[in-house]
Formats: sequence, structure tokens, C-alpha cells
Amino acid sequence: MAKDRLRVGMVCGAGIGANHVSCWMSLEKQAKITAVMDVDQELAKNTAHMAGDVPWTTSLDELLARDDVDAVDICSPPFAHADQVVAAAKAGKHVLCEKPFTINLDDADRALAACKQAGVKLMIAFPRPHSAAVRRVKEMVETGELGKPIRIYSSHHMRGEWLRKRTGWFWDPKKSGGTAIEGVIHDFHFLPWLFGPVERIYAEAGTFIYTDREPTLPDDQLVVLWRFKNGAIGIIDGGANQPSNYGGHTSIFFTEGGVRLERGGEMRIHRGMKAYHPAVEEVHHFGRMGDDTDLITSAYHPSGHVGEIAHFADCVLNDKPPLTPGEEGRYALECAWAAILSFRTHQPVTLPLKKPYPSY
Ligand SMILES: NC(=O)c1ccc[n+]([C@@H]2O[C@H](COP(=O)([O-])OP(=O)(O)OC[C@H]3O[C@@H](n4cnc5c(N)ncnc54)[C@H](O)[C@@H]3O)[C@@H](O)[C@H]2O)c1
Repeated sequence: MAKDRLRVGMVCGAGIGANHVSCWMSLEKQAKITAVMDVDQELAKNTAHMAGDVPWTTSLDELLARDDVDAVDICSPPFAHADQVVAAAKAGKHVLCEKPFTINLDDADRALAACKQAGVKLMIAFPRPHSAAVRRVKEMVETGELGKPIRIYSSHHMRGEWLRKRTGWFWDPKKSGGTAIEGVIHDFHFLPWLFGPVERIYAEAGTFIYTDREPTLPDDQLVVLWRFKNGAIGIIDGGANQPSNYGGHTSIFFTEGGVRLERGGEMRIHRGMKAYHPAVEEVHHFGRMGDDTDLITSAYHPSGHVGEIAHFADCVLNDKPPLTPGEEGRYALECAWAAILSFRTHQPVTLPLKKPYPSY
């Protein structure tokens, strides 16, 4: 794209959208929000004010018809994503779409096809790969610095009420995809992102705490076992029923050591597996931007999503492939659906899934 500043249309501005707005505002040399759309008029107006008193609308068509919008940043709830991505692609706009890409695989396929046909970029907003600590772990997997990867454990716990989803959509799996697709999708993306394609998934899940809510989450707690094509194995322990608000970490074990990653970006590297007291290296990196070779001194940035957003702008402006393209959003969804199918049938599920795809 022959421009040095990306012109962005925000699709929704509350919730995570407000975080994205502050990220875009901090990237003023690279990008500018030129218009805002939200179905809620008050939220549209407030967000437009936050973005520097730019024009606002409650109509997506109106936003997409604007000549001063090169790309849209879709932060609406999951049930709206597929149609909005398709509409944006048809209007020739590049797309950054919040996770989960869509709820159902057929919708992901039509959104991918629309972006491909229109020749626009599609990136799914998974923040973890934009942490320098996480990229360092990916490098360890690729170079074999700690030997072969053998096991990964990842936990992801949230508290349903804390999520504050404005219209209550989280509690309806048809609107959110349930806990597996709305929340734990971060791990359904992250595990194959690190360990590669998946052979088989087995899951158990249930409603343990929010049994009296209507609609009811099918999976306020789930545990997922993985076998990767490279032979490694894994576990996700995820849920939406934790008493505190949010928590989780990832531990990765190799034949010659291990790494523990905290959600804030801190990382602990253990070198050696057989010795009782292996060497331990503490690495502190709290930021989402920064130089991979200088983890300890990388600058902290208060907006956790700024690295991901800066990367999207760079991909569009300089015609680069996104680190987390639409296809990865679809693969994460396929893994989540394998887990859902498994806990529905009490059987292990082999990937890829076959049509007709399951759906909510
Ligand atoms: N990456 C992350 O860490 C992260 C964190 C939170 C949420 N999310 C994702 O972001 C998305 C939004 O979640 P949230 O927590 O901000 O939800 P929310 O309910 O807090 O906010 C949703 C916003 O979307 C607007 N909206 C509703 N329907 C719309 C539509 N059809 N078109 C345009 N705007 C619409 C609402 O008015 C509101 O402004 C979800 O997909 C969620 O999974 C990602």
C-alpha cells in the first residue's frame, strides 16, 4: 500500500475496542482512526470522541463506504464477526478481527474466501505471539535450543461475571461459542502455533458452577488432551468459573530443559532435565513490543495489544504477511471444535474435521 499512515475504521469501541482505540492512538505516526461504528449510538459517539472527535455511525455499510478507511478493526462480539469480515472484504478494506475469528467453521470458510477473493489482508487478533518472551520460546522450539519439545501445559481461567460482556452475549454459546471458543481459543491457537499441526484431541467438560444460568454454558470448565503430529503431547486446563478474575500460565518441556511463561510476559528458563537442580534463568519481559534479543530491557507498554496492532498496520502498509492470519484463526477454531465434539461424544477426535462441521 503506497501510504505511510494507515486509516482505520473502528467497528465497535467499548470493551476490548476501547483498549484497541488507545493502542491506535499511541501509534500516531503509523496510523489514524478516521471513523467509528458501533451499534450502540452512545458508545459510537464516546469512542469517536476518544479517537479525536472523528465521524461516527451506527451503520457498518456507512463506515465501509468511506474513502478515508483503508482497514477496519473489528472488536464486536463473536456472533457478528463473520458477516462483518465478509462485508469489509467486499468493500475492499483490510481486516483486523478480534478472536475468536468466528463461532462456526462454515462461517470462517466464507470469511476467508471473501478476503482471498478481494485480495485484502486478514489478521486475527491473538496477542500472545506479539510478546517478545513468547517469540523467544517459539525460537527455542524451532532451533532445538532445549532439545525436542515433548510436553506443553497451558491454563486459562476467567470468571464469567468479570468479563462484563455488555449485552450478556457471553452466556449464550450461539453468540459466544462458549468458553472453549470465546476464552480458551487463546490456547487453542497458542499450542499449535508453538508445536505445529495436531493429530488428535480428547476433552472432558461440563457446567459445574453456572448451573442456574439461562442460557447455560456447556463448558464452564474443560480439560483438553492433545497429541501433536511431531509426537509431543499437551494439556489445556481452561474455564470461566474461577473465583478470582483471570489467571493462567504455560509450561513447555523439552528433552533438555523447560520454560514457564506467565501471562504478563515473565519467563523462567530451566536448562537440563535430569539434574536435580538444573540451571534456572529468570527473564523478565512485561511488554508486548521490543527487541527479541534484549528481553530484560524491553520497554513496558501499558496497552497489552499495541504490538499486535502495530504489526497489523505494518503488514498492510508494507505488504507483509500477518503473523496470525485468518487461516490460523480458523485452525484454532477447528481445534476448539474438535474438543467440543470430543466432550459431546466422549471420544478422541482426529483432525482435520470432516464436513458437515458441527456448529452452535
Ligand atoms: N484479545 C483479547 O485479549 C480479548 C479480550 C476481551 C475480548 N476479546 C474479544 O473481543 C470481542 C468483543 O468482546 P468485548 O469483551 O469487548 O465485548 P463487550 O460486550 O464488552 O463490547 C462489545 C462492543 O461491541 C458493540 N457491538 C455489539 N454488537 C455489535 C455489532 N453487531 N457491530 C458493531 N459493534 C457491536 C457493543 O456496543 C460494544 O461496544 C469478542 O470477540 C471477544 O472475544 C478479546
